[in-house]
Amino acid sequence: MQWLQTKGFDAEKYKAMVRSHQERDDPTGWFDAIYSSAEGDHNAVFWADLAPNPYLVEWLEKHAVSSAGKKAIAIGCGVGDDAEVMAKYGYEVTAFDIAPSAISLCRNRYKETDVSYLVADLFDYPEEWSRSFDLVYECNTIQVLPGKYRKQARDAMISLMAENAEILVSCRSRNSGEQEDMIPLPLDKTEIDGFVRTGLIEKSFAAYDDDQDPQVPHFWAWYRRE
Ligand SMILES: C[S@@+](CC[C@H](N)C(=O)[O-])C[C@H]1O[C@@H](n2cnc3c(N)ncnc32)[C@H](O)[C@@H]1O
Repeated sequence: MQWLQTKGFDAEKYKAMVRSHQERDDPTGWFDAIYSSAEGDHNAVFWADLAPNPYLVEWLEKHAVSSAGKKAIAIGCGVGDDAEVMAKYGYEVTAFDIAPSAISLCRNRYKETDVSYLVADLFDYPEEWSRSFDLVYECNTIQVLPGKYRKQARDAMISLMAENAEILVSCRSRNSGEQEDMIPLPLDKTEIDGFVRTGLIEKSFAAYDDDQDPQVPHFWAWYRRE
């Protein structure tokens, strides 16, 4: 997620909009406004890196050798860079977002894609998705949700995992007890460890600072259902 001002976005206005939705318990009602304000140009979405997550690419490079015939899902796929790279490494990819304008941007951007881009809500996804994906990919969705919705999102993500499936989680991070009013609200170690508390096995975990200026601390984690 790039810094808000980089694409002419007014950070204070953005945060006020998010807060007002959160205060009326409408935590997902504002996402489409971000994508529709891009007016059809994926380059104008302020939080889009427009390149696949390098940690995802590295993971795929090492572990996707046996991906043929395997199903992957990208949660809150935004403008699609990560979904496309998973397809490039051989997965049959479903990518969904609650924002219809995000999915329109993806469909226009990748006219020849093998990825199936769909509008769907993580909290009410199609029944047939339950426990049916070999690879679940989460990047920056939990951090844009408030309060109880964060655990619900985590549990919904896990419920997409088939037996022996993997889940990759990428997010901003913070020290516990710090930055508690931030938007987006980064995950602390206790929160991300919730994936392990549900019974998943942690295969790898990294805490790192990204290459933005100023640098932003992040977590990258890989868990498996065994
Ligand atoms: C900060 S953006 C991250 C987008 C993309 N994953 C990335 O890293 O660039 C969070 C995304 O999650 C989507 N989202 C939020 N809540 C969702 C939900 N309940 N179901 C599906 N998508 C959701 C938003 O529309 C938005 O595209």
